[in-house]
Amino acid sequence: MHSFHYQNGQLHCESVDLTSIAEQFGTPTYVYSKATLSDHFTRLNQAMNKVDHLVCYAVKANSNLAVIDTLAKLGSGFDIVSAGELFRVIKAGGDPSKCTFAGVGKTRDEIRFALEHGIYSINVESLAELEAINEVANEMGKIAPVALRVNPNVDAKTHKYISTGKSENKFGIDFGKIEAAYDDAATRLKNVSLRGLQMHIGSQLTTIAPFLEAVRKVVPLAIALKEKHGIEFFSIGGGIGIVYHGSLSSGAPEWWQSEENTQITIEEYAETLVPELTSLGLRILLEPGRLIAGNAGALLTRVLYTKKGDTKTFQIVDSGMGDLIRPALYQGHHEIAPVTEPKTTATEKVDIVGPICESGDFFAQDTDLPPLAENDLIALLSAGAYGFTMASNYNSRPLPAEIMVDGGSVHEIRKRQTFDDLIAGESVLP
Ligand code: LLP
Repeated sequence: MHSFHYQNGQLHCESVDLTSIAEQFGTPTYVYSKATLSDHFTRLNQAMNKVDHLVCYAVKANSNLAVIDTLAKLGSGFDIVSAGELFRVIKAGGDPSKCTFAGVGKTRDEIRFALEHGIYSINVESLAELEAINEVANEMGKIAPVALRVNPNVDAKTHKYISTGKSENKFGIDFGKIEAAYDDAATRLKNVSLRGLQMHIGSQLTTIAPFLEAVRKVVPLAIALKEKHGIEFFSIGGGIGIVYHGSLSSGAPEWWQSEENTQITIEEYAETLVPELTSLGLRILLEPGRLIAGNAGALLTRVLYTKKGDTKTFQIVDSGMGDLIRPALYQGHHEIAPVTEPKTTATEKVDIVGPICESGDFFAQDTDLPPLAENDLIALLSAGAYGFTMASNYNSRPLPAEIMVDGGSVHEIRKRQTFDDLIAGESVLP
């Protein structure tokens, strides 16, 4: 489900008109639906009920304190990739003992911070890192709970920048080396406890087959590790893809529909994988990010100028790749919805471009949209995951505001940056 829909000719998030948000908070602004976040978490959590499990929301998808708080209150654990993300989880009232810490380049300070806060598991991405964790834990007089991340060498069939489960990717420890690594750690490393096994093959997977292939490949290893080393959990990672094309909910006009409307449903995911996992007797961890937050958010922006060139018509908007980099970085598609519902089915071929001084700064190229005029508001849909968290100040543009809608209420969950924020911490030479 998601909660962006037309009502009385205006695009709404839950029951709030996006025009009123633009008037109150300006543009560009990220708008999130609390109901969608909660619904996605709850549906996945329930679908996995037949197996002992913990959903650890991947904070990198959307790390706003209000998002973390919403999910923490539903019982979510968290998949973090930096001490900064753990800091956010703690500030938002999340439970560190439900956190797993991934990432190939954790510093010793980060490892220390995680151990101080009693996190559930550090997911180890290399043998060198395992040694470092053991040393840090030893210095602290602690035993570090760890899970080794196995690279199963399975093709996730997704964009190459977000594919992580092939042996040429930097992530995890090669499948053929992993058992020996556990054996070695068990005999030699006195300050780690082997708590689990982890994998994550990639992001935005749109078919179930690679998940199934990876699970089938790794389950025998999990069984062996449970018998030999008493591991207690197996994390199957995140990666469930969402619909980006035609992603408007009910009442979508004809020009929305597109052929690329495939997605793994939560039900298909659970029904396919749970039977493979029930007999393990291990706690299953899931690390969804995009599935929870992606369709829960939109980026609201306003048309500044229309420019008719010799070959193209450009609609220049007040948001750009600094606010939402997915089109530029991954050729990501975000459906564009005029906030005032078009009265005609007529369309025009346009480029939607931002103000940044790069030709890669576009949200859509040669796309058929209803006619737009200066000052019109548009929403870039499915921008709740990897939108704000990847935003930058490039071109010295303040970061957008973030708003969370809860039914009919509107909460400003992050203020728009000011010029002073832009230079905070900087100084000129004496
Ligand atoms: N677990 C691990 C170890 C991960 O590396 C990731 C994502 C996740 C879980 C969550 O994956 P998800 O369920 O969201 O697919 N910026 C890119 C996506 C990068 C994903 C990085 N790792 C994008 O905008 O498409």
